[in-house]
Amino acid sequence: MSDCLLELTNVHLAFPSRRNWLGKVTEYVHALNGLDLTVRRGETLGIVGESGCGKSTLAKLLMGMLTPGTGQLDRSRLPADRPGGGMQMVFQDPLSSLDPRLPVWRIITEPVWIASRSSEKVRRALAEKLAQQVGVRPEYLDRPPHAFSGGQRQRIAIARALSAQPDIMVLDEPTSALDISVQAQILNLLVTLQRQQNLTYILISHNVSVVRHMSDRVAVMYLGQVVEMGETQSVLEAPAHPYTRLLMESVPRLDTPLGEAPQNTELPGNRHLPAGCYFRERCPWAESGCAVPQPLRRLTDNHATRCWKAEKIIAMGGK
Ligand SMILES: Nc1ncnc2c1ncn2[C@@H]1O[C@H](COP(=O)(O)OP(=O)(O)OP(=O)(O)O)[C@@H](O)[C@H]1O
Ligand code: SF4
Ligand SMILES: [Mg+2]
Repeated sequence: MSDCLLELTNVHLAFPSRRNWLGKVTEYVHALNGLDLTVRRGETLGIVGESGCGKSTLAKLLMGMLTPGTGQLDRSRLPADRPGGGMQMVFQDPLSSLDPRLPVWRIITEPVWIASRSSEKVRRALAEKLAQQVGVRPEYLDRPPHAFSGGQRQRIAIARALSAQPDIMVLDEPTSALDISVQAQILNLLVTLQRQQNLTYILISHNVSVVRHMSDRVAVMYLGQVVEMGETQSVLEAPAHPYTRLLMESVPRLDTPLGEAPQNTELPGNRHLPAGCYFRERCPWAESGCAVPQPLRRLTDNHATRCWKAEKIIAMGGK
């Protein structure tokens, strides 16, 4: 696809979780298990799925902080010569990602400093420009990060990401630690910046209403796989995969985070992967045909799912 900026094909990633006395790995945590994903230029791609399904592992992989065990990560359409290779990340807790000893103007321009060693004067000017863009008062730039409120710190983290002129910003729960009113301000800021700078966002969130509000497309993750992907409207309003349906049903109020979903959405172990469809043990639609692995397959041009019964489930309204 011409506007495809980033592509992951059949990516697997496992963390060693247990070793024997010889140091040999005897058990793995299977965090990503054949993950397929495309990211289009200029879009916001929302990623949802319950705690432990591999969202942050995916984010770290995209950022080059982890490498795939097997599978392909195609970043060839991103500018390799920019700090971060055209990608920057904003984390849930800004304070943990900001050096507490540095004044924020240094923090904001650190990616540029590492890449180009530009002069202090140039960096200060850049920090002031970015501070203005994200709504931080330039006269506060000499203060350390703990002198700012949570929302202000997240603005600082966003400015820092922007300093590297990324094409893609990976936003891992960017507003989850903030009060509701502050959340809305940060989300609005992100929308404005995206419009001004033609940014592409990968937005990871537990919160369905945040994803619905922000995303052009959504990918639903379950046990290290994308089980459903497509335009936000189709995926969230007419889900084709039983897991997505379960997620939507477990969100009685729009502002309920998925992470606090009811007990029946508990993730099976990712140490011993199920055979066949990963969702089989919890799926009300399961039958013998589900004992084979399910590929991500196209339902329409803008909707794909990992369930062979999807058409039937949609036709019956999922009941
Ligand atoms: N460095 C690591 N070593 C071992 N296991 C890990 C490591 N990082 C993540 N995991 C495991 O991989 C799985 C996926 O974790 P990940 O952090 O990607 O989930 P997540 O979807 O981001 O969850 P949350 O919504 O709680 O942030 C989990 O079982 C986690 O315990
Ligand atoms: S393949 Fe079978 S078990 Fe898996 S989601 Fe579809 S109906 Fe359920
Ligand atoms: Mg996470």
